[in-house]
Amino acid sequence: MMSGATRGFAQRRRPVVSRRADRGAAGRPAAVRPPIYSIRDYSLWYGDFRALRGVSLDILPNEITAMIGPSGCGKSTMLRSLNRMNDGIPGVSIAGSIIFEGAELYDDSIDPVAVRRRIGMVFQRPNPFPSSIYDNVAYGPRLHGNRRPDEVVEASLRRAALWGEVKDVLDRSAMTLSGGQQQRLCIARALAVQPDVILMDEPCAALDPIATFRIEELMIELTADYTIVIVTHNMQQAARVSDRTAFFTVDMSGDGQRTGVLVEHGETGAIFTRPADRRTEDYITGRFG
Ligand SMILES: Nc1ncnc2c1ncn2[C@@H]1O[C@H](COP(=O)(O)OP(=O)(O)OP(=O)(O)O)[C@@H](O)[C@H]1O
Ligand SMILES: [Mg+2]
Repeated sequence: MMSGATRGFAQRRRPVVSRRADRGAAGRPAAVRPPIYSIRDYSLWYGDFRALRGVSLDILPNEITAMIGPSGCGKSTMLRSLNRMNDGIPGVSIAGSIIFEGAELYDDSIDPVAVRRRIGMVFQRPNPFPSSIYDNVAYGPRLHGNRRPDEVVEASLRRAALWGEVKDVLDRSAMTLSGGQQQRLCIARALAVQPDVILMDEPCAALDPIATFRIEELMIELTADYTIVIVTHNMQQAARVSDRTAFFTVDMSGDGQRTGVLVEHGETGAIFTRPADRRTEDYITGRFG
């Protein structure tokens, strides 16, 4: 009786900020699930400007990790680093290590194109191709040699919670869809090449609250099969959807130059209710200034 009561109390003490707090993956001990990404002492420079300094962070599979922090602290830079999207920017150099699924992501032997197939990306502004709804989703599978992509198109649109709305108008231009539908189409397009990870940079910034809610629901559903990393300026969104939160800020210590640093990361409930660092607390309570 005694121990039962103690256990019950311990369980109730888990933070309830996040809807995801008591869902599958986050409830399991981290130790039994090796990280899908291990970022160690990672820095990135644009020319002489150091945009990120010494970031170390593990990202666990089948979870949503939120990256938050003030404008210019390097969130998008960090997110793009996770699928080598900064490779094409002239003057970029990096230090440190990002291990993805057990291999060094920036090793010479790694093909960035193959990487991007396993790691999809969804942007702030929905960016469908100016072609039909069908062709948008079929694009990736066709590129990879699938000449009859009907099945994967349907499955991806179903998975992105869009099928019901578009199944009779697949030949219509993607540009005729609403913003929220376009964003779900972009998610379907990302899913169609069967990635392991989906990176999302402020995916709801251009959407109204209802379209935002649908994307959030969808993200939570997708963690059954995918790992999601989301950058968001919306604190409520981070609290609602994510399992873990990483707070970045702009740091001026050291040589006096502005640079992005990771202040702290942990379970979302803990970051939002009892952050370890004053800078995190100031930011999440809106005192950042
Ligand atoms: N291609 C680039 N060339 C030079 N500097 C860049 C480039 N991209 C970003 N930066 C700089 O790197 C820093 C981090 O930018 P980043 O876009 O990663 O920030 P962010 O946290 O995503 O900001 P926001 O919340 O406004 O989107 C900023 O000072 C930015 O000006
Ligand atoms: Mg950004």
